[in-house]
Amino acid sequence: MGYPNVRPRRLRTTPAMRRMVAETSLEPRHLVLPMFVHEGATEPRPIPSMPGVVQHTMESLRKAAVEAVEAGVGGLMLYAIPEHKDASGSRGVTASGPLNVAIREVAAEVGDATVIMADLCIDEFTDHGHCGVLSSDGTVDNDATLEVYAQMALAQAEAGVHVVAPSGMMDGQVGVVRSALDGAGHTDVAILAYAAKYASAFYGPFRDAVESSLQGDRLTYQQDPANAVEALRETALDIDEGADVVMVKPAMSYLDVVTRVREQVDVPVAAYQISGEYSMIEAAAERGWIDRDRAMLEALTSIRRAGADIVLTYGAVDVAHRLRSR
Ligand code: PBG
Repeated sequence: MGYPNVRPRRLRTTPAMRRMVAETSLEPRHLVLPMFVHEGATEPRPIPSMPGVVQHTMESLRKAAVEAVEAGVGGLMLYAIPEHKDASGSRGVTASGPLNVAIREVAAEVGDATVIMADLCIDEFTDHGHCGVLSSDGTVDNDATLEVYAQMALAQAEAGVHVVAPSGMMDGQVGVVRSALDGAGHTDVAILAYAAKYASAFYGPFRDAVESSLQGDRLTYQQDPANAVEALRETALDIDEGADVVMVKPAMSYLDVVTRVREQVDVPVAAYQISGEYSMIEAAAERGWIDRDRAMLEALTSIRRAGADIVLTYGAVDVAHRLRSR
């Protein structure tokens, strides 16, 4: 018998063969589209550092939500930029604030046809740009912030959100949100916890998108990129406090963390292909250095292969269309 007698290439001979043996699938329902609405926008404003992504008006947000539903995406993640920011992020909490209005508008437009999620954090609403309120010495006050998050969760639930997504990395944030929701009868509102969220340079374009006023960094609350065991502790705590879904963020530089979290927990795991990951692909493709569509599919498939059940990506609608047409 000739050598080699073991030939893995046999399973790669035709597209049909490769499709049959593929271990990982990527479907529109796995994808969640993050969306931005700007309270003051009178027309959609392109975000220069995120090609293809805009700050919506309420009207264009509704239209884009319908398009996303038609593309079959799994859900939407809403962010809002207020016209005025203040120290306590009050526009994030008040019912007439842009995020709560956006939830109402999208809920009125698409109802239960998709999963409506909202960022539960005040960094888009604070004039200092931090995810929490500050104490007199300028540090982020964990426990005072929890009270704000509890109110914000109630406002989002009253606006009709299906899932709240606490992303501020305050200790105890999931527990306080769960008890606030339950106390007000919102037992059906789920929590997607940004459980393992790292202090990442790859958030850069997002900070443009939300016109962040942050000076400095988030190193005292977001995780050190050096740590993986700590991510397991963070996710275990969040599940203990009532998280229904846990998320690892960013995705690409943390695929090992996605895998370890997937192995440890018994709830769905989400991973977020964040702004910098998205924009790097767009920028390299603009220069003709990589094939955008293939690079995007490969990146998202890798995140699924690492163990993510749900993937947040700014490319969700575009990718969903391509997945459906192949
Ligand atoms: C905080 C929040 C951030 C992102 C999602 N939620 C920014 C941050 O932590 O600085 C980043 C998302 C991205 O980069 O795509 N509200």
